[in-house]
Amino acid sequence: MIKNAVVPVAGHGTRLLPATKSQPKEMLPVGKKPIVQYVVEELARAGCEQILFVTGRGKYSIENHFDHNPELAESLRRATKDNLLDELSFENIKINYLYTRQTVQRGLGDAILCGEPFVGREPFVVALGDSIIGLRGDSSICNRLSEVYKDTQAAAVIAIEQVEPDQVSSYGVVKPETEDEEVFEISDVIEKPTPSEAPSNFVVSGRYVFSPVIFDLLRLVEADANQEIQITDAIRMLCKSGERVMGVKLPVGEKRYDIGNFDSYFSTFLEFALADPLHGPELRRKLVKLL
Ligand code: UTP
Repeated sequence: MIKNAVVPVAGHGTRLLPATKSQPKEMLPVGKKPIVQYVVEELARAGCEQILFVTGRGKYSIENHFDHNPELAESLRRATKDNLLDELSFENIKINYLYTRQTVQRGLGDAILCGEPFVGREPFVVALGDSIIGLRGDSSICNRLSEVYKDTQAAAVIAIEQVEPDQVSSYGVVKPETEDEEVFEISDVIEKPTPSEAPSNFVVSGRYVFSPVIFDLLRLVEADANQEIQITDAIRMLCKSGERVMGVKLPVGEKRYDIGNFDSYFSTFLEFALADPLHGPELRRKLVKLL
């Protein structure tokens, strides 16, 4: 597995206001855990050793969440609430956390570029801090991306999800060379196309492996109408430059939960809470009564 991961968490999360006024959207709970904890646990299981969070103003709670809190642990022990100590076991994940600031929120591409001094000339994983893959976040997609990166010498390997054709305009949409394979070559990618412009219904879904060559292209990308540097534009340049860009489909049953707006936040929370072995059955009974 590739040992370095960049996790961008600097966005303003405006579509989730007022919830995100003073708290990062990546820290909103889904079921019992904040979104970004699922992301870190997924990366740890995949064998990542170091995570660079690209943060911004008002994102301190992410740093605090992954830090040890000895006073809290001690008070739980004294109150013989040892069962609750298990809820803090994620503090012991063997990952080295680093933090840097994206000083101006100039888009995901710019946030990834902030990772260059950390990554150096090594390949790296990018995992979006607001996206969970698979119910309970138990995906092994990053291992698969790393394997494909090694086997194909690609400059970028991207996790891909198939969505309904009328949904494509919310995503980066790829042009696949073949549609039937699990792993395929990508010849183009278009950010938020209309359904008629979209080259397929295969969309970029929050997990990537990049060779450091991506940084050279990100520096060339011009800001879009919203003054944002889009990672999609840099991937597009990779395709045009003749570098190999590969897609890997998310396995059947593994969905991307992109917590960008209230519709997806509410439905994701509900799905995860219903899947909770302890609280799910009672919630189900209550919901049935409510509906
Ligand atoms: P989004 O594209 O959802 O953007 O970010 P956003 O700014 O958070 O949300 P809205 O559009 O204002 O509602 C996808 C991921 O990329 C990070 C976000 O923190 C999120 O995890 N991101 C986005 C950055 O790190 N920096 C940016 O400038 C933009």
